Amino acid sequence: MNEKTGPGTPSRLAIEVERYPATSRILHWVIAVLVLLTWPLGMVIKFVKNEVSLDFYMIHESLGFLVLWLMLLRVGNRLLTRKPEEDGPRIEQIVAASVHGMFYLFLIIMPLSGFLATNAHGFPFTWFGVLPIWSPIGKAPDIAGTLSAIHLVTAWILAVLFVLHIGAVLMHHVIRRDFTLYRIL
Ligand code: HEM
Ligand code: HEM
Repeated sequence: MNEKTGPGTPSRLAIEVERYPATSRILHWVIAVLVLLTWPLGMVIKFVKNEVSLDFYMIHESLGFLVLWLMLLRVGNRLLTRKPEEDGPRIEQIVAASVHGMFYLFLIIMPLSGFLATNAHGFPFTWFGVLPIWSPIGKAPDIAGTLSAIHLVTAWILAVLFVLHIGAVLMHHVIRRDFTLYRIL
């Protein structure tokens, strides 16, 4: 890496700002894109015409199911890799860690509740229409409604977390003009 800094040399950034490990950065963006597709797809399912609603379900469920496995990988990655050092007030670090922690938790509850709800309502799930997924609970009408309710509430919890997350990113990037965004790029 170029050790010189000064006008025209962007390396100062690279030297001084510790980023998340590559695996964390890749997982962050792949999961972010998938969730930003899956969430609105889930919301519009009930408004689309009958002819295409099964396709919407299939794409929504298959992308969402991918998020479940990527999140499990991400938990493993988080336990095995080191997070870059934090600076800033202690209270901000606690708030950031709480929002990030809740993202982890609800990004697992979200696809898990959707998958189990689909099973419980009596619909076998075939990933992208090609890979049949074993149902751990089978048809279970007694709990189907509860699982759907968990899926719906979690969807809104994630939306709130997302607004807080983007608010924090903008605060760092636009107001404080620090390198927080660079840590995850
Ligand atoms: C990150 C993953 C996921 C996100 C962000 C997500 C988001 C949503 C949202 C916003 C809705 C509309 C709200 C509602 O009606 O409940 C919805 C509905 C639905 N989702 Fe998901 N979902 C995910 C994963 C899954 C998975 C993996 C499945 C099944 C394998 C699934 C099955 C369903 C079903 C069947 C509905 C229709 C409403 C219901 O019966 O509960 N979702 N989802
Ligand atoms: C779309 C625009 C997004 C931007 C600009 C963004 C930006 C960032 C930044 C700058 C960080 C690093 C924070 C730090 O250094 O402490 C971060 C971390 C994180 N972001 Fe995002 N993010 C976005 C979307 C999302 C979405 C959609 C999710 C959830 C689905 C998400 C979940 C997380 C989590 C869990 C972390 C903590 C990193 C970890 O420990 O794995 N982000 N994000």
